[in-house]
This record gives sequence, C-alpha cells and structure tokens, in this order.
Amino acid sequence: MTQHLAAPAAPTTETRTDWWRDAVIYQVYPRSFADGNGDGMGDLEGIRSRLPYLRDLGVDAVWLSPFYASPQADAGYDVADYRAIDPMFGSLLDADAVIRDAHELGLRIIVDLVPNHSSDRHDWFRRALSEGPGSPLRERYHFRPGKGADGELPPNDWESIFGGPAWTRVPDGEWYLHLFAPEQPDFNWEHPAVQDEFRSILRFWLDMGVDGFRVDVAHGLVKQAGLPDIGRHDQLKLLGNDTMPFFDQDGVHEIYRSWRQVLEEYAGNELGPGGPSSEGRRRETGGRILVAEAWTPTVERAAQYVRPDEMHQAFNFQYLGTSWDAAELREVIDVSLAAMGPVGAPATWVLSNHDVTRHATRLANPPGLGTQLRTPGDRELGLRRARAATLLMLALPGSAYLYQGEELGLPDVTDLPDEVRQDPSFLRAAGQDGFRDGCRVPIPWTTEGSSYGFGTGGSWLPQPEGWGELSVQAQTGDPGSTLELYRSALAVRRAEAGLGAGGTVEWLDAPDGVLAFAREGFVCTVNTTAETVRIPAPGRVLLGSEEAEVSDGTVHLPADTTVWWAV
Ligand code: GLC
Repeated sequence: MTQHLAAPAAPTTETRTDWWRDAVIYQVYPRSFADGNGDGMGDLEGIRSRLPYLRDLGVDAVWLSPFYASPQADAGYDVADYRAIDPMFGSLLDADAVIRDAHELGLRIIVDLVPNHSSDRHDWFRRALSEGPGSPLRERYHFRPGKGADGELPPNDWESIFGGPAWTRVPDGEWYLHLFAPEQPDFNWEHPAVQDEFRSILRFWLDMGVDGFRVDVAHGLVKQAGLPDIGRHDQLKLLGNDTMPFFDQDGVHEIYRSWRQVLEEYAGNELGPGGPSSEGRRRETGGRILVAEAWTPTVERAAQYVRPDEMHQAFNFQYLGTSWDAAELREVIDVSLAAMGPVGAPATWVLSNHDVTRHATRLANPPGLGTQLRTPGDRELGLRRARAATLLMLALPGSAYLYQGEELGLPDVTDLPDEVRQDPSFLRAAGQDGFRDGCRVPIPWTTEGSSYGFGTGGSWLPQPEGWGELSVQAQTGDPGSTLELYRSALAVRRAEAGLGAGGTVEWLDAPDGVLAFAREGFVCTVNTTAETVRIPAPGRVLLGSEEAEVSDGTVHLPADTTVWWAV
C-alpha cells in the first residue's frame, strides 16, 4: 500500500519572500562558535570570520542565540537591554557587520527574541523593585502579595521550569513570577507598555536588517486569568503534554498577529555582492519571518502559531523527541505534514539544539531516556544513526534546523565535572539536575592549537581531549567524514527540484523497520534496524549516509543507513 499525503501548498515560482519555506537554518550559539578576541568566549567577530564556512556548508540562514546585554544568568536568555549587545560578544557595529557580511554572502540572519521574561537587571525591573509595592512598573511584571498569615507563602503553586517555586519574594514582602530562573522575571503581557515595547524592539532589529526572529518561549507570554493553582507537584513532567495555565493560552495568538503586521511593513532583504540592488526594482514586502519556540501538547496546537496571519514557522519538538524507530518516525512525519497543510505553513524538522543532548549522543543511548543525557552510550552507533537521521530529515518537505557542530558529528560532552557546569537548571534548581552544558562545549575548528581553533584564549567550557580529530580541519576533504556528508547533502538538496518546499511524501512498500518514500523524481530509503536489508533499488544513488551496495536491481541497505535516490 502506498499513501499520499498533502504537503503544504507549494509556491509555483520560488520568490525571495518565500525563501523560508524550504530553508536550512543553522543555529549559532554565540558563546561556543568562534572566539575572535581570545577571551575564551565566542563573539560576533568570531561569527563574522566564520560566515564563509557557513556559506560553503550550504545553509540558507543563520539563527543567532541571544547576544544582548545580559548578566548571563541563563546564558543570555536573561536580557537586560534588548537594543544593546553584551560587551562580551561585541557591539552594535559588530552586529551590523555580521548582518551585512551575511547578506553579501547570500545568507540570512535570524535573531533570538526573548519576550516572556527579562533579566532582573532590566531597567524596568530594577525600578519596579526600588519603587516598592504600588509602583506602576510592577504592573509590567507579575507582582503579588503572598498567601498565609504573613504572606510567607507564594501566591500560587506554580513550579519553575528549572525546578523550585516559580515565585521569589522580595525584601518588601511581595512576590514576583518567574517561569525560569529567579533572574528571569516574567513580563505581564496584558500591559500595553509591554506590548508597545516589543513592537518597537522588533522594528529596531528589522531596521538593522535582520531577516527574522526566533521567538523564545512563544507559548508562555499569556497566563490564565487569576493565575490559578495547578494542584500537583510534578509539574515538570506535565510540560509539553498537558494544558498548563501558563503555557499555550489562546491569548498569545493576538500578540503574534500584531507582530506579523509589523513585519509586513518591511521589504525583504536583497542578498548577494554589493548589497541591496541598485536597479530600483520594487521589492516586495514579506520575507522577514517569525519562528515559534512553542512547546505544545500536540502538533495541531503548534500549527495554530503558524496560521497565515501569525508566525511563519514553529519548531517541531515532537520530531526531535522521536526514537530511532521506523513506525514512530513515519507517524510523526505524517502527523506533522497533516497538521501544517491546512494552515499553509511548512513543516519544520530539528534533531539538535542548545537545550537538548546532541542527536549523535541521544541515538547512541537506549530510547526513552529523555533529552538531557549524562551517558555517552555507543558512540559509533550513535554517529551512524545520527548521519542516517540527518539525511532522513533533509529529505522531508519543509524547513530544517541544524545546530552548530552537528555537521561534525559532535557528541555531547557527558562527563563535564560539576565545577565547570553553568546551566542554571543545574546550579539553582531544587532537586533538578538539568544538563544542557553538554551540547554547549565550543566547536573544534583545527586539529591542534589552543582550544582547537575556537580561539586563542581557552574555552569557557572545557573541550575533551581528542576534540581536534573531530574538527573542521580534520574532516574537510575526507569523503567519509560527517562534515563532507552534510556538505554533499545540502548541495544535493539545493540541486534536486523534488526536494523543494512543496510536493508530497508518498510512502512506498518497505519491510518492517525500513522507511521508503518518494517525492518528485526522488526516493529516500531508511533502514532503522540493526541488520542489512535487501530491497529493490528504486533508482540511481545520489547520496548515502553509508556505502550501500547495489547489484542486479537490488540494494543491500546496511543497518542504520539512509540512501537518497534519483528516479
Ligand atoms: C528557551 C531557551 C532556553 C532558555 C529558556 C528561557 O527554552 O531555548 O535556552 O533557558 O527559553 O529563556
């Protein structure tokens, strides 16, 4: 039996404003990408110097995790000034240079926007604290009196995502809400000043020339009226599966509709040498995008964020969390495409980011252990599966996200000693042991040298011995390397019309544990089992995550291998 699935509407001609429908977007975590000034911390100058590498890798856009002025209580996701660069990363001039250079090289830039909470050092919050109860600035956050005879109990039973209560008491007796660390007070999005401020921040960065925003905790801005108790004390386990009074409230959509209108005021950026074209061609509006980081109970709920008048894309965390299992993968692919089709948004696919164990390590471990692992597992198996998983992801209709270093097949550094760990979900949590530092270790660029070419002054998280063997330098030109596999895959993806934004996924007959699907002129076969399987060769091999032997019209598809075919 074959099955046809409608994929999101394909634009008949690919216009510049539609670039995001099938874009491959590369996440740069600025602290850990490249260090331009030798202080052990990555920065904008480092990023700028490595843009040609990203162009040659073949990605379409770069998403930069936060680089704003911040006390770094949560690695920059605690913003003190949304219009300034943290000196640790550089200056606004450096940001301008990164945006300009990227555009010249044909790359788009997406910046991270953190609207759910500010830093506790944000000017509004400092004034709210110093002015005391009754200060109008307190209305821009969630300040409340406590419960109990002396207000000694938090206003409700909500728990922070990082563990412990979601409320902190200030010396004058009031409490404030923080869904994350105490240094990240939540904004009150009912307040018009908060709404105005963020529209203004959007314009600031759009004027700087960015091509879009990745919206942090996009599902969290609106809280259920009255801030009702949840009545349970295992709330972390409910996240992403259950309806919570602080997540995915219907009111968030109005905010994104108003943001979309701001974006629509702007023309898309022209890419290429020389910057904006001087031909006076009328440039269409559109082409600047909003991407939701929205943890929702279902993909259908995620689809609501990408209705035609809201955001453009939403991360597909259901896909990220799926085990290396053919039936489960097929199910999540079907469900994702089916959910996005009706709203006309592209599906997105992601395997790694700065909050979860890299997929080379996740797939090296038994399934079901979650996304913050402390065990290296079987590294060889993990890498083999990761390569196969990546080729599967890049064959699907829609847009794909890569996390820096996955193109090197980097594993998580699972044995970081406690004294170097910096993740606030480890440092501050009551009883929680968050481990996001393992995927944040700086990238190896060269086989030798201080911090393997990351910089000249060490690295803020220690790199393991032997990291240089995984470096860009070590892998470049080695046809069996993961870096060359990514380069080839992205080149083929660009060249094959069938791998564009639209089209269908047509499932083909395949043995248990094997996925086979066709797109126009193209077939992808994936063996998720531990044994070689023999199936009819659907065409000519374009690329494989491993060598696959083809003879007499039969392919011997090795264990944990994906092969792309031209038909
Ligand atoms: C998002 C970010 C994560 C951060 C959190 C709070 O989930 O990806 O790194 O800690 O928001 O801003």
